Amino acid sequence: MCGIVGYIGGGNAAEIILGGLKRLEYRGYDSAGAAFLSDGKIQLVKKQGRVEKLAPLLKDVRSFAGIGHTRWATHGEPSDANAHPHLSDGIAVVHNGIIENYAELKAELISGGAKFLSDTDSEVVVHLLAKNYGGNLIEAMRKTVKALEGSYALMAICESENKIVVARYKSPLIVGYGDGGNFVASDEPALAGLCRDISILEDGDVAEITADGVNIFDKYFKPVTRAKEPNLAVSASLGLEGCPHYMLKELRETPLSVEATVRAFDGVKDNLSTVLKGVKRVILTGCGTAYHAALIGKRYVECFARIPAECETAGEFRYKNPVIDNSTAVFAVSQSGETADTVEAARLALSMGAKVIAVTNSHRSELTRLATAVVPVAAGPEICVAATKSYTGQLAALYLSAATLAGDEIYSECAKKIKAIPAVISETLENLDMRSLAHICASSSGVYFLGRDLDYAVALEGSLKLKEISYVAGEGYPSGELKHGTLALIDVNTTSVVLITDKSLASKSENAVEQVLSRGGKVAVITNVEEAEERFAGKLPLISLPACDKFLSPLLSGVAVQMLAYKAAAVLGREIDKPRNLAKSVTVE
Ligand code: BG6
Repeated sequence: MCGIVGYIGGGNAAEIILGGLKRLEYRGYDSAGAAFLSDGKIQLVKKQGRVEKLAPLLKDVRSFAGIGHTRWATHGEPSDANAHPHLSDGIAVVHNGIIENYAELKAELISGGAKFLSDTDSEVVVHLLAKNYGGNLIEAMRKTVKALEGSYALMAICESENKIVVARYKSPLIVGYGDGGNFVASDEPALAGLCRDISILEDGDVAEITADGVNIFDKYFKPVTRAKEPNLAVSASLGLEGCPHYMLKELRETPLSVEATVRAFDGVKDNLSTVLKGVKRVILTGCGTAYHAALIGKRYVECFARIPAECETAGEFRYKNPVIDNSTAVFAVSQSGETADTVEAARLALSMGAKVIAVTNSHRSELTRLATAVVPVAAGPEICVAATKSYTGQLAALYLSAATLAGDEIYSECAKKIKAIPAVISETLENLDMRSLAHICASSSGVYFLGRDLDYAVALEGSLKLKEISYVAGEGYPSGELKHGTLALIDVNTTSVVLITDKSLASKSENAVEQVLSRGGKVAVITNVEEAEERFAGKLPLISLPACDKFLSPLLSGVAVQMLAYKAAAVLGREIDKPRNLAKSVTVE
């Protein structure tokens, strides 16, 4: 999703904005741009492609105030013209979100003589501001946002005022208080190391930011103060530390992520136990990889606590009028805590009387602010767009949460078992050799990940990872379903990766291997079940994992399928950390 950053003060605005845009790159984007106030004029640069393309264009800019934008296209293809900022009559604007009524606004503005230069929804904002401007930018902003429907985090500058004016609705916006200057951005990582304190604007807020201060007005345009909080974003671990990609670095940090998450759970366990008292049903929800973690969390709840549990993608959950009451707990799983569908699903659940438990890697986000309780994932900053260490951290958090629901005896057993897992994940990472299987997958017309129960949930994750970073098509499928359809796709050009980590289901999953082999399909097995290893050793590519409790196996097989996807993408020379079309967290619906 898009990222926006603004600065006004005594510093070099071009340098500061460029640095902020670099720190926003992890969100995923296809274009970047910035606009600066310089001697009463706006200087604007914007390009399709990477942030570094802007650097040579900014080196002669002398300015004390600017706004910047990384664009993840929603309306209008990636192009220089569709990049932000948009400009009209001496006003420049950047936007994160979607203006849902942009078409009618655009028609009205064009009939009023406005000249549009882009295909974006966002450009309507700058023309509305120009139309509403009567010498006071924040007044113009107040009038403008009244006409907007959808979601927006907006920043605007104009040639006749030395300030940045902002507005937010359902798209996060944070103000940063610096020494000799002030900042505003979509999220804390953009402000890492730049300011000590921040304030989080609320829906409906508009504000004017000057070098000397910040004036915030609520949705009734009443002056309001938003609490100052310490800026916890760290810029420290944003280095690659010798790794070719963040994805590899973050995969290697998985043991630390689990260890830290297990440790952090100690601090929330008692409160969670209190919040979950009397819960009779559990719903888990999330998007992408977080949804796959939620699927495993569902099985933990059913198996440990014997409480009915269901799992839905957030995009489905929020439109299905779910059956919820005050004895329902909804676990909202989200690395960023900002994914629009997950946040809105949580908001819906709360409005229907449920307790919402946020399982998230963000210590402060839209989701943590609205949740009844937070179960922290302590994975640390995850820069690669594709989730890895945060997924395994989510599994650890869900494992302990489900154990908490099950009562003290089961909890203490589980807490002991999971404490040993980080070392086993390290052992797994050390012994994993995915090179030959990666080449096989990279040259396949389709790759099908198969598994039963927990292995099926990991199969879905393996398939998503491979698709999102190597662009190799495929699917995650229940092993038992193969013969009911997907088998028709199996041929010599396809590869099936069968996950077998549950001894009790091994023979059934081995049937899937035979079904694929008998159709001439390539097949590999990822397992930690001895019988399966004996049966297939030497006959097909076999990835052996350390033996461990079946409920904790996803923390190992998850790493294995993610590493396989990484290696296959490397074979294909893909842009692994910033795969095409994808964003780290999608704050639009
Ligand atoms: C996608 C990311 O945009 O959003 C995935 O590319 C992620 O990696 C998904 O799993 C959900 O994001 P979050 O922050 O809610 O876990």
